[in-house]
Amino acid sequence: MQPSSIKRLDELFAAEPDRLSRLSFEVAGLYFDWSKTHLNAALIAQFIERAERMGFAAARDALFAGAIVNQSEGRPATHVAERGSGAPDDVDLATARRQRMRALVDAIEAGAFGDLTGVLHIGIGGSVMGPALLVDALGRRSATLEVRFLSNIDGAAFDEAVALLDPATTLVVVASKTFTTLETLTNLEAARAWLRGGGVDDPDGRLIAVTAKPQAALDQGIDESRILQFAEGVGGRYSLWSSVSVTAALALGWDAFEALLEGAAEMDRHFRFAEAAANVPLIAAFADRLYAEQLGCQTRGVFAYDDRLRLLPPYLQQLEMESNGKSVTSDGKPVASPTAPVTWGGTGTDAQHAVFQLLHQGTVLVPVEFVAVAEADDAQDPDHHRLLLLNAFGQAAALMQGRQSEDAQRSYPGNRPSATVLLQRLDARTLGALLAFYEHRTFANAVLLGINPFDQFGVELGKEIAGRLAQGGDSGSLDPSTRALIERAGI
Ligand code: F6P
Repeated sequence: MQPSSIKRLDELFAAEPDRLSRLSFEVAGLYFDWSKTHLNAALIAQFIERAERMGFAAARDALFAGAIVNQSEGRPATHVAERGSGAPDDVDLATARRQRMRALVDAIEAGAFGDLTGVLHIGIGGSVMGPALLVDALGRRSATLEVRFLSNIDGAAFDEAVALLDPATTLVVVASKTFTTLETLTNLEAARAWLRGGGVDDPDGRLIAVTAKPQAALDQGIDESRILQFAEGVGGRYSLWSSVSVTAALALGWDAFEALLEGAAEMDRHFRFAEAAANVPLIAAFADRLYAEQLGCQTRGVFAYDDRLRLLPPYLQQLEMESNGKSVTSDGKPVASPTAPVTWGGTGTDAQHAVFQLLHQGTVLVPVEFVAVAEADDAQDPDHHRLLLLNAFGQAAALMQGRQSEDAQRSYPGNRPSATVLLQRLDARTLGALLAFYEHRTFANAVLLGINPFDQFGVELGKEIAGRLAQGGDSGSLDPSTRALIERAGI
């Protein structure tokens, strides 16, 4: 039920002639349209007051100053320094490490590892999702290397990842912030065996490690000259700005990697200096809070109307759900309101033929986000892209307008919110700005909630249980259901 204080979207448009201009913004080559959300001037004023009460400006300053914003782990969050926006010392360190990364990329391109035909990038979560998104989004038409990303511990995933790679001419990049992750270390061993089996005499000579824990990589037998370090303050899901993207830099070229950072820095400047009522990550966070807290929305759907951005929804799932899927505030008290909704989504137009029925006529309200690109980059008739975009815009209009019919089955209630991000073109710079927008929006949500977006203790318990059992630990202390599953699987 919509609270009576919140007007219908058609009423909002009718009552506010300047609605579109107040709720649409152009930043860093991206156009953001939040006018089809239920935000209005009064709600925005209330949220701005709440941001002030929650110390938003000071929290944002602390983030960019490299102060401790991850209280539970006692550290800063320095991903912004990777793109030159943080504290001078953090920026200097990030710059020095990026220069080292560049030297390695240059050496590889100059043949230090022989004539390479492929790269196998091993990592999981934040150590793979960013670079995989970058290469998939930007490297389709230019790739000279066969690049494969491997994350899952499932041997079938390994088989598939190496199927098109030649061990004799493949470089293996192992990315792991901690260098203790079970999946990554297991796949590292499998990669060594694969290289050896393919006739490579010195498999370790073909490995590059990317980590915040160089000693752990050394302990895994990787030579110091092939370890790229990044800062402990760079969280896994915020790490694509660091040397975690060495694979993307190899696949897309160094200039593209630099442009990615510049685009993100432009969004950083907007987030730092734009006034609240025109600050896009903050406005988006206000809408997120409105739907989660006042309209009971437990999910948010993100649909990329561009095949190059098909990995954006899963990337955002980690960013948003691992950051803000919390139940206690930074000082350990239960939160007063719902935190992160479930982020889900897919690509348009496919999703229209699968899940949009529920979005239009289901009983749950899902705020929808459309992400599209004005300029195409494909070899087909321009009509493909025109139809793609018209479908995105048509869906957003249909969600909002609805349609009354005598026949209840054919009625659309309308008044269903959506937001649209339209990039003029998809390139490294605009993609950097887009991803930085999502990071800052996640941070803004966390500040409004008083939670810490930079830890993720919730992922530990399941790992611990599996780890204990893998070490031969007794399953006797577990529940009967789990014991029966282990027995039935014969493991
Ligand atoms: O289990 C969750 C997580 O810790 C993520 O936060 C992280 O991105 C991923 O695992 C991989 O961790 P690492 O980079 O240390 O291998």
